[in-house]
This record gives sequence, C-alpha cells and structure tokens, in this order.
Amino acid sequence: MINRFFSPEEMQAQKDCAASVRKIVTDRDIYSRPLRAHVMTLGCQQNEADSEKLEGMALEMGYTLTDTPEKADLILVNTCAIREHAEQRALSFIGNFKKLKAANPYLVVGVCGCMVSQEHRINDIKHKYPYVDFVFGTASLHRFPSLLYEALKKKKRVFFHSGEEDYLVAEGLPIHRNGKTHAWVSIMYGCNNFCSYCIVPYVRGRERSRRREDIVAEVRELVANGYKDITLLGQNVNSYGKDGQYGYDFADLLEELAQIDGDFYLRFMTSHPKDVTDKLIKVVTLYPKIAPHFHLPLQSGSDRVLRTMNRHYDMAKYLSTVEKLRALNPDITLTSDIIVGFPGETQEEFEETISALENIRFDMIYSFIYSARKGTPAAEMEDQIPREEQNRRYSRLLAVQQDISLAKNTPLVGRTERVLCDGISKNDPTVYCGRTPGNKIVFFAGDESMTDSFVNVKIDRAEAFALFGTVVKN
Ligand code: 5AD
Ligand code: SF4
Repeated sequence: MINRFFSPEEMQAQKDCAASVRKIVTDRDIYSRPLRAHVMTLGCQQNEADSEKLEGMALEMGYTLTDTPEKADLILVNTCAIREHAEQRALSFIGNFKKLKAANPYLVVGVCGCMVSQEHRINDIKHKYPYVDFVFGTASLHRFPSLLYEALKKKKRVFFHSGEEDYLVAEGLPIHRNGKTHAWVSIMYGCNNFCSYCIVPYVRGRERSRRREDIVAEVRELVANGYKDITLLGQNVNSYGKDGQYGYDFADLLEELAQIDGDFYLRFMTSHPKDVTDKLIKVVTLYPKIAPHFHLPLQSGSDRVLRTMNRHYDMAKYLSTVEKLRALNPDITLTSDIIVGFPGETQEEFEETISALENIRFDMIYSFIYSARKGTPAAEMEDQIPREEQNRRYSRLLAVQQDISLAKNTPLVGRTERVLCDGISKNDPTVYCGRTPGNKIVFFAGDESMTDSFVNVKIDRAEAFALFGTVVKN
C-alpha cells in the first residue's frame, strides 16, 4: 500500500515541540498565571472534528481552555471557505482581535483551516492583519505545536502552507471531545470530485483514507467510554478505501463497526450520489445500529445543471438510489443539499429542482445560494445569476420544502421514538431536547437524569423543523 501517513518520527517531533511549548507556557517566571486557549470553529463537522484535535493539542501544550476569546492568551480560528459569507465572518472575527491583542500582551493569534489553505487569503492575512502570528492549512493540523513554538520562541510571524501534505494523514493526535454522547470520527480526508462550484478539493487536498484498524479502535474506545451517537466523517465517505486499501470499502467498514457490542448509533456524512452502491444500501438498512438516516446531496434537479456542476449522476440514477433505499426501509430519513442560482440555471431548470423536491419529498434540506469561489470553474462561467434572482429562488425553495418537511413529520404524531437526550435546549431553557434515530429534533419536558441517555418520547405535535412530545416509561 502507498504510504499515506506522516511518519512516526514526524509525529514525535511535534510531540517534542508540544513539550517545549508547555515549558514556556507553564513558566511562572514569564507568566504569572495559567494561560488560556480559545479555539473558534467556523463551518462544517469536519472542522468541528479538527478543532477537537486542536484543543487536544492546546491542552497537551499546557493551556487551559476557555469559551471566551476576551479571556484567552491563545486564539486559534479554524476557518471555512465553502461560501463567501463564511470567509467574511472569519475575517470579521479576526479583525476584532486587534483590540484584544492591544489589551493582552501575552495574546498569540493563529488562523488555520480552509480559508487559509488558499494562497490569496494567506496573502490577505499577511498584509492586512498584522496581529495574526501564525497561519497553517487544513493538512498541517498536526504542526500546530511546532508553528506555535516558532511564533512564541522566535517572536516572528509564521505562515505554513505545503501542498505536499494534502496527500497525507496524521494519526495519533490528542482529541478533546466536546460531547459526552456524540462523537465525530474522521474516516478520510480530502475530495477528488472537483464539483465545478466547490472549493473543498483545493483546500482539503486529495482523498486519503485512515487505516481500518485505527478507525475500528477509535470507535470501540468511544463505545466503551459511553458514546452513543458516532458520526463517521468524510467529504465523500463512499470513496473510503479507494485510495489503496483494496478489497475493503465503506460498506465493509460500516458493517464491521455496526457489529461492535454496545448501545449506540452510527451515522455518516457525506455520501456522493454517484458512488452509492447496492451493497452500501443493503448494509445501511440491515443493521439496527446504523441510524436510519441518509444524507444525499442532490444539488439540483436539472440534468443539464448537474452536468455543468460535474456531479457525475443524473436524476434517473438519483431517483433509483432513493427508491432502493425506501424499498428496504420506507421510514428512512432522507436529507439533502441544494444549491440555487448556479451560473446559467434557467427558470425552467430551477423549476426542475422544485419538482424534484416535490417528487422525492426529503425530510429536510440544507439549501444554499450559489457563491462564486475563486479558482473554481463555475466562478469563471458566464451567466452568473443576479443576487435578487438567487434570493427569490431561495425563498421559493424554502417555502416549498417547509410544507414537505411538515407533511413528512406529521405522521410521526402518536408514535413513540427512542430519543437521545442532549439536555436542556439551548433555545428554550424550559424544555429538554434530543434527536430521534432518524435525526429529527424533539422537544419535551424532562429532568436532568435524562441528559445523555436514551428516553422514549411519544410525539404529540409536529412542526416542519421539530417534533414535540411527552416522555413515556421505558
Ligand atoms: N456555493 C454554494 N453552496 C456550496 N456548497 C458547496 N460549494 C458551494 C458554493 N460554492 C454546498 C453544497 C455542498 C454543501 C456542503 O455546501 O450543497 O453539498
Ligand atoms: Fe465539494 Fe463535490 Fe467534493 Fe462535496 S463532493 S466536497 S461538493 S467537490
């Protein structure tokens, strides 16, 4: 097999750097109190998973963690680049750190993740944000200790961006998990698909899979530690193993993990419709430990648009996958991603997307207004759709889907669902909340003993985006 891993020596060198940083950070002759680190995460679940590793490394380096940037001596912003809005948010947060830096002479600021895996954004940070001390891209996550060490020790700004690392996997990083029941497990990194609108393949590098035994060991350990909801992550999980672990694919991995003893659910995201095999559909619908939820980004209901998006499937292929899934499990939750206002999308083609939603009837969709990403083919296409028209299509899409989501949720009224309780709702402190195996959010009157456990909830009322119910005895 091709060596796709950073060598043990390289990983050890980072551990040594972490120890050196720890010496500096905990030196009470320099710092009169324990130092605090804040990791700010923008973007997707993969970034959340990466941030748990960054926090793990910060702890290893002697920092304590804080949720408040104002209290931090080290701020690390893990950025996203998927849409313009995500980048503007990151830049506006970073802009605010100027005054924090003036107020705290110890403060060190780092920026990492997808936004700064692009040359032009690295240059922006270099020239317009002089109070940022160090920068590194997605594939160099494990270098956090050495880059921080350089910034602290040499008191110089450090910008690290190496294309070579886009082919490699770093194993064995410490992880500070943010949940007690939900956990992320990255199974692969990068993407090879180059959908014409998408920046991900440029900022996260090529597809590379973790070793089967490393993933299995991680999931086993999570289950042993009481984790009940484990999400396998990858830009395109269906490509797992295609980069060298011949004879063992994503369906095999899921099947192996679903046979681990314990009371837990496995989830996965994201799947690419072009790669969903009959074998995968069978495994997903066969094992009770695999949550009955399939997230399958459609992006558009028009074959022509799908072609210019470089998606490598058409509506017929997509519909046949949905049919096969529903034939084996009619209750499976189906969710999707849709982009409106892609360059050249005509009114009729947009209507095809609306018809696709009405025809497929997803439980929920994540909808996005197309955002041009520098360096992608779609950004160069003629016929960019004006913003007002994009907004109009977006509102229409949301309204159509809202009715469908409500219609999909309504039959759940009267049913009892096994809900993993997350505790008191962040939005409404008078109720508890949790998720069904099909990943629907449920609100109910509860008590603290239910937090982090499974409870049976009888559904009393349904809305488009949530269910409301009453706890019933197990
Ligand atoms: N503009 C809008 N949405 C995008 N997505 C990816 N790239 C873009 C873009 N340039 C959406 C896709 C993808 C989801 C994660 O984000 O729908 O599935
Ligand atoms: Fe982007 Fe397409 Fe890869 Fe998903 S599969 S990350 S949309 S290029």
